[in-house]
Amino acid sequence: MKGKILITGGAGFIGSHLTDELINQGYEVRILDTLCEQVHGPNAEIPKYLHPEAHFIKGDICDRNKVKKALENIDAVFHFAAKVGVGQSMYELEKYTKINNLGTAILLEEIIKNPIKKLIVASSMSIYGEGLYKNQENKLQTKLHRNLEDLKNEKWELYEEGQALKPIPTPETKTPELSSIYALSKYDQEKLCLITGKAYKIPTVALRFFNVYGTRQALSNPYTGVLAIFASRLLNENPPLIFEDGKQKRDFIHVKDVAKACLATLETSAADGETLNVGSGKSYTINQIAEALQKVLKKNISPKITQKYRVGDIRHCFANIEKMQKCLGFSPQIALEEGLAELANWLKEQTAVDNFEKAGTELSSRGLTV
Ligand code: UD1
Repeated sequence: MKGKILITGGAGFIGSHLTDELINQGYEVRILDTLCEQVHGPNAEIPKYLHPEAHFIKGDICDRNKVKKALENIDAVFHFAAKVGVGQSMYELEKYTKINNLGTAILLEEIIKNPIKKLIVASSMSIYGEGLYKNQENKLQTKLHRNLEDLKNEKWELYEEGQALKPIPTPETKTPELSSIYALSKYDQEKLCLITGKAYKIPTVALRFFNVYGTRQALSNPYTGVLAIFASRLLNENPPLIFEDGKQKRDFIHVKDVAKACLATLETSAADGETLNVGSGKSYTINQIAEALQKVLKKNISPKITQKYRVGDIRHCFANIEKMQKCLGFSPQIALEEGLAELANWLKEQTAVDNFEKAGTELSSRGLTV
């Protein structure tokens, strides 16, 4: 046995894949997870996909006694427990701040009393806001926002003197621009962990995940990533709805590559005290994603381009992964086509409640769509 690892939120999408990876590599894994209804459904049992050798503790990250118990004899912690919806965070402020910010603070106080050898926290590309851009003279542009007038007029790009700026891969050095309560809470989690880790000499790393996709992503949760939402729409014979013109770009990384990056982070000290982008380093438009998914699912349902802006959305963000490659000696292995084919196979056995329209109503009734 190589060591005892605690994964908070380990029953979830990324945590469960990391559990598999760690157990396969000879680690012992303990999971602390509340099995929240939005992800796991009502009165949820331990998910069937969870590795049978993982030791499961049901409990909330804000329950200090459960956290204390979960930390007994643990060597390293992956802190993944969090609420993850950007739009939802704009009206459930208390819940997001409690689980993400306060939950992390409680975990850290218990870690201080019960020191560990390594702490790895899940952060997010959402902290960047817009990605990095260049103007016509190749000058870098940061601190960018789209203006509402442009968006109402279906001018989707970012402009400088009438010229569209060019998006380029975003490195960790880009100044964060927090545009949702979710992003704020992720930045807070990053900083809480890094500052505490430094003060108490616990090697700590914050991983900024880009758009993670793959099997086990909660299909009935309308606040998760676009691929899960599109999959759930198509499984229910509904057309995926594409915001804006669909030409916005993102970086999609397969969940098994994310698990491998997590393992590499655990096993090297090269990234200690650092933040690392975890992305594929490639970018795709949302139109390309919709088309690719439709193809692997063999559905004859075309997506609808809504020409509508979802409040809080950024236009383009994709990762510069040089730092990850250098520190971890790891590059993502799974090409999008391969990852989507695997996803399609899994989707065939799934049913999904399409809650997308309900979530849209929640947002629009609060003036959170344009
Ligand atoms: C956001 C967060 C990210 C988080 C992820 C999943 C930001 C900048 N990033 O990413 O940290 O991990 O959510 O919670 O806030 N889209 C559609 N139709 C849909 C759904 C989405 O067109 O039905 C579009 C969106 O408008 C967006 C793109 O797809 O342009 C990606 O959306 P999504 O998967 O929600 O992720 P991000 O907003 O990139």
